[in-house]
Amino acid sequence: MEEDTFEKALDAISFKHKGIYFEVGLTSPEIIDAIEHMEIRDSDVFLVTYPKSGTIWTQQILSLIFNEGHRNGTEQIENINRVPWIEYNINNINFKSRPSPRLFTTHLPYYLMPRDLRFRTGKIIYVCRNPKDVMVSFYHFYLLKPNIKCTIHWETFIDVYISGKVESSSWFDHVRGWYTHKEDFNILFVTYEEMIKDLRSAVKKICKFVGINLDEKAIDTVVEKATFTNMKHDPVANYKFIPSDLLDHSKGDFLRKGTVGDWKNHMTVAQNEMFDKVYKEKMGDLPIKFLWDLNEENAS
Ligand code: A3P
Repeated sequence: MEEDTFEKALDAISFKHKGIYFEVGLTSPEIIDAIEHMEIRDSDVFLVTYPKSGTIWTQQILSLIFNEGHRNGTEQIENINRVPWIEYNINNINFKSRPSPRLFTTHLPYYLMPRDLRFRTGKIIYVCRNPKDVMVSFYHFYLLKPNIKCTIHWETFIDVYISGKVESSSWFDHVRGWYTHKEDFNILFVTYEEMIKDLRSAVKKICKFVGINLDEKAIDTVVEKATFTNMKHDPVANYKFIPSDLLDHSKGDFLRKGTVGDWKNHMTVAQNEMFDKVYKEKMGDLPIKFLWDLNEENAS
């Protein structure tokens, strides 16, 4: 029997709603539509990312900033419950009855977010990462998914990723959408690469934005507990709690490499040139800068 193609396998596990691909069984068009009417409090904080851009890392940082019981290890609450997803609320958390300040996570594009956020109530932290490393990370993530029942070829993956047929659709549209609508929201942009280069400064920047004043010792704790090595072994943070029918942990970890520039180990010169051309066409007019390699002095 002929093996399914990656695109066919994706079709079997995805649905498209209002221009965006979501995973079947984890959410529905009704849930996504209801998000628009979610009541927002001034103290709400939303972590927004395109997949593989540092979501679980920033969940850990936010959880540590907001919860002393997480910092001092007296509470063992998984981050998915501390900073739950609004569109993938797999533990059925009642958002309305949550005490303030509430923390949320989402991969939604700007136009599917709760409408009230447009009145600049609530805070949004948008974390983005250079799209080549996102592509590599996404590719490895799909290799862990037991419901993708085919071989995923890297060359094919590049095309599918660029065309936006993956979960959450196009990186280019997501980042462009959020960036060009930033004036509509109360938003802080943070890059994965700046977190890699100087985590302490990034943590302080986030604290300032969310209005939490931690002393230097508490900041040290947040930084220490949010390092790649510590998170890899931290059961509240490392997503090993995701059931094996959703992620095959025997094939690899959510926390895979945690670095900048791994795309150089995957892309050929020709693939890289092609990608640069697409990037220029789609993003060239925006002043947004990324660090593509840790040896580069400045972002370009
Ligand atoms: P890699 O696959 O490149 O290693 P997301 O949470 O948005 O799905 O992003 C996952 C990516 O963030 C993975 O990238 C993962 O290793 C990386 N990551 C998670 N925690 C990290 C940390 N503490 N430091 C650096 N990278 C981290």
